[in-house]
Amino acid sequence: MRSFFLNLMMSSLYIQMPKAELHLHIEGSLEAELLLKLAQRNNISLPYKKVDDIHRALNFRCLQDFLDLYYYGTNVLIEQDDFFELTYAYFKRCSEQGIVHAEIMFDPQSHTNRGISFDKVIMGISNACQQAKLDFGISSALILSFLRHLTEEDAFRTLKQAEKYRDKITAIGLDSSELDNPPIKFKQVYQEAKNQGYRLTAHAGEEGPVDYIWQAIEILGVERIDHGNACIEDHALRQTLINYQIPLTLCPTSNVALKVISDIKHHPVLDLLHQGLLVTINSDDPAYFGGYLDENYALVQNNLGATEQDLSLLARNSIVASMLNEAEKQKHLTFFKL
Ligand code: ADE
Ligand code: ZN
Repeated sequence: MRSFFLNLMMSSLYIQMPKAELHLHIEGSLEAELLLKLAQRNNISLPYKKVDDIHRALNFRCLQDFLDLYYYGTNVLIEQDDFFELTYAYFKRCSEQGIVHAEIMFDPQSHTNRGISFDKVIMGISNACQQAKLDFGISSALILSFLRHLTEEDAFRTLKQAEKYRDKITAIGLDSSELDNPPIKFKQVYQEAKNQGYRLTAHAGEEGPVDYIWQAIEILGVERIDHGNACIEDHALRQTLINYQIPLTLCPTSNVALKVISDIKHHPVLDLLHQGLLVTINSDDPAYFGGYLDENYALVQNNLGATEQDLSLLARNSIVASMLNEAEKQKHLTFFKL
């Protein structure tokens, strides 16, 4: 058993490593305190009066269970300032955890479909990104994610709304209820997004079958898979992920909270890492799953016995798998060559 002091040294080690977070839903970083504050400010009545009431509700049987609460939580986000405050609070956490770059997903449809303008959402979030660069030196990229339980037509409408803000959005993503909403449903809109020069990612193989990962790669043409846990069932897919170094953005605390795995001891992150896949770890929806990026590193270290070399490779992979340009990547990667 590793000593207490060795664990302490190792934990401070990964805090110091430059890391990128590549899989984070900004709406999933809405902490209970801020949720209650915004509800009061915006005159929204909730069945929750205290932080503890919300924390007690964080008990999920599956992805849909969580999504119901997550979308309910978004109702308190009304004004541009609310989106700014939410996003800035996330960056503040990043600054305490050695995060040098964050690729942030946002779900415009969960706001526009309840009458909030696209403009307020994107301006609040992107202003916070600029402020975070000034205050903390953290760079970022935004990933506009389509809600896959809605129609492709709705996704097309959202892509149209984004046109005016093309310079603020780096990539397109696909999230929400995976089962029965295969990537192929969004083939045309992904083609159009590609034509417009967006980079492409998609959630696949979180709760859904391995075929959805193939579809995301072969039909949507994504450069990165969000989650991708189901690849453990398919040797040929893993070989493809290795050969093309297609990154997976794995989310350990999320997988435990949403019962994607029965126990953290069964998490495939280290097996996949050792096989040569470009895996990264991320927090997904930290306010709902009880952990920001460091807690995810700690979970992997404490339960899977990750070595210093494993943790360092995971941090390094997060830079390599990011959408930063080559020069920016190299700047951060010098840390790992020392
Ligand atoms: N939206 C927010 N978190 C999500 C997750 N883990 N899977 C799919 N959609 C999401
Ligand atoms: Zn996610």
